[in-house]
Amino acid sequence: MTILVTGAGGQVGQELVRRAGQRALLGLSRAQLDIADINAVRAALAGHRASLVINAAAWTAVDRAETEPEAAWRANHDGPATLAAACAEAGIPLFHLSTDYVFDGRAPGAYAETAEVAPLGVYGMSKWAGEQAVRAHLPERHLIVRVAWVFGAYGGNFVRTMLRIGGERDVVRVVADQYGGPTYAGAIADALLSIASRHLAGEPLASGTYHLCGTPVTTWHGFAQTIFAAAHRAGLLARTPLVQPILSSAYPLPAPRPANSSLDCTRLRERLGIEAPPWMAGLSETLDIWKRTS
Ligand SMILES: NC(=O)c1ccc[n+]([C@@H]2O[C@H](COP(=O)([O-])OP(=O)(O)OC[C@H]3O[C@@H](n4cnc5c(N)ncnc54)[C@H](OP(=O)(O)O)[C@@H]3O)[C@@H](O)[C@H]2O)c1
Repeated sequence: MTILVTGAGGQVGQELVRRAGQRALLGLSRAQLDIADINAVRAALAGHRASLVINAAAWTAVDRAETEPEAAWRANHDGPATLAAACAEAGIPLFHLSTDYVFDGRAPGAYAETAEVAPLGVYGMSKWAGEQAVRAHLPERHLIVRVAWVFGAYGGNFVRTMLRIGGERDVVRVVADQYGGPTYAGAIADALLSIASRHLAGEPLASGTYHLCGTPVTTWHGFAQTIFAAAHRAGLLARTPLVQPILSSAYPLPAPRPANSSLDCTRLRERLGIEAPPWMAGLSETLDIWKRTS
């Protein structure tokens, strides 16, 4: 009953391994398993007698995807397609992570799973193509979970960047016209592990696409203000910098970002009993870990 985790060196991958508890779970990093290599994937599934695969591997460098599209497509489309084909051959389910960036962010409210996709850049397009490949190979045996604004104690993310620049500058300018729900990598891992365990214990898999994002919806500016205040309270920042709100247009990036990244998580609660996680709790845990290890 081994759960095989791919991309185990990433933010969510590391949390899956750390939170496995008593479960039989094996995490393979990119160096240990390239998800786009069909022979290596087949050998890993058979060799480790995998009962279920959780794919936490991806190309997540959104801006670099614009200049290195082949690499992004390889990780975000070819990899999931390869994993899904191998899981179909082995008769086992695949849990796969995707992103709010499949949407263009023009909708007025939170996106439901049924909302029309319209990716704005190469990253979002390649992730959407990966989703489609998973659905095609495993129509009744997949779980696609779209998450947004992922952060946690392990790996690079917005919280880590804010702490670094907050320690260096008196004034930090942060985008205030993009809305989303920062999602704690630990909460994503817990949700996936709970669904996996229930399924491996005999619960039928409610195959399909789900949204999971942190609550409440905020902006990068709002998130940064909370990060600085919490880090200051935790003793990780000597003083809080002034956080100046700016428009996305004042901070142009190679890949455009959706203005609205908020995801409606109702389906996840109703079908799988999992609540959208409050991001403040994840932020506190992240800072606690950094405090203990700094
Ligand atoms: N980060 C976010 O803000 C965010 C937002 C929305 C959705 N998501 C989605 O959430 C999931 C997890 O994201 P994350 O933040 O944990 O990502 P991450 O920290 O960037 O980790 C991704 C991992 O995948 C590995 N990888 C890349 N190509 C691979 C390949 N061909 N075979 C095996 N491993 C490969 C990477 O290895 P290297 O480091 O060696 O390249 C890295 O360890 C992804 O599906 C991502 O698209 C993330």
